[in-house]
Amino acid sequence: MEHRFPDGFVWGTATAAHQVEGNNVASDFWLLEHAPGTIFAEPSGDACDQWHRYREDIQLLRQLGFGAYRLSIEWARIEPEEGWFSLAALEHYRRVLAACREHGVRPCVTFHHFSSPRWFTADGGWEDARNVDRFVRYCERAVRHLGDLIDTAYTINEANLMATLAVSGILPREGYKTRLEFIAAVARRCGATLDRFGPFLLGHPARVSEVMLAAHGRARAALKSGPGDFGVGITLAIPDFQATPGGEQRCREAWAGSVDPFLDAARGDDFVGVQTYSRVRFGADGALPPEPGVPVLVMGYEFWPEALEATIRRAHARAAVPVFVTENGIGTTDDTQRIAYVRRALDGVVRCLRDGIDVRGYFYWSLLDNFEWLFGYGPQFGLVAVDRATQMRTVKPSARWLGEIARKNVVSSG
Ligand code: BGC
Repeated sequence: MEHRFPDGFVWGTATAAHQVEGNNVASDFWLLEHAPGTIFAEPSGDACDQWHRYREDIQLLRQLGFGAYRLSIEWARIEPEEGWFSLAALEHYRRVLAACREHGVRPCVTFHHFSSPRWFTADGGWEDARNVDRFVRYCERAVRHLGDLIDTAYTINEANLMATLAVSGILPREGYKTRLEFIAAVARRCGATLDRFGPFLLGHPARVSEVMLAAHGRARAALKSGPGDFGVGITLAIPDFQATPGGEQRCREAWAGSVDPFLDAARGDDFVGVQTYSRVRFGADGALPPEPGVPVLVMGYEFWPEALEATIRRAHARAAVPVFVTENGIGTTDDTQRIAYVRRALDGVVRCLRDGIDVRGYFYWSLLDNFEWLFGYGPQFGLVAVDRATQMRTVKPSARWLGEIARKNVVSSG
């Protein structure tokens, strides 16, 4: 059976600066990747060298059939030292956004996607409420330079990630103290004392949530005050939390602790970005391991494409604003598994649309096989493979399959 998407439905792919640009040396992640005793599988290095190859990548995604590109601009490049803004970096991003426009691709810009300047993280980072001002100042400066070219903007990517990882039992609720040694080593390297250093990935989940929520509200106002007339939202990591018998209370706590306050905050936005990869089940004692019989992916979670339908429904019901699926995808070496995953996820989007839910677009994560944070280059989320030695791009069958759906605005299910 064929399903036609609403006219104007936005089909895109997504990346983040640190994961694709390469040599993001002024960022906290670069530092963490190179710290003695690092928990990163490997450093990001040249990544996909998109800093130089952006034009080729934008052309490619257009040729494949996509009409939008969700990318992030890198704060650590724009403000490598506190208060010092690089005009060259801002000009670079102007060229990137202009290249999107030239090729008929909507530039959807995320202002913060996990990585921050070293100086920011060394001085309390996202754990320190005083730092909201610094983030807002960066947003103001960047939007003044780039705003006229932006199609849609997102303040912070997955502002609730730490909280989500904590309720899923992946991060300790009490935050970084459990990784004391690692943090101490990193702190020494960047000349900070331990109590002033709250690396984003390992900070205290509840504090980070609070500061990021405050930052989002103020950054939204800053982005709205710049040139250009575009919608602004936030993107959220939303696994489908499911209760098994006896786990109802834990499941409710998970939604309340890591997702709902952010959806409530999104009520004042133009839309909300939903980012879903899998589900997490809860029993009486908390998060449960993958269910026997369900395939487990390289990231450690289940192959569960149906999660997306559930999270779109929840986000829409609670935030009461239009929804963009700003990330959905799968890390796998088996490209037929990728197609199977996306097909089932899109079936869920179709069911939501049929029920009148205002879903405006779908962005596959990711355009390229890229730097998957702690996991390095192992997990392959890309529609396009990247040769690590030559940087050569090779289009996978899934890219053509999804590009065709994008071009026709029609998916055939089953
Ligand atoms: C992040 C991406 C990441 C992807 C796949 C999302 O949480 O926004 O940066 O690569 O998931 O794990």
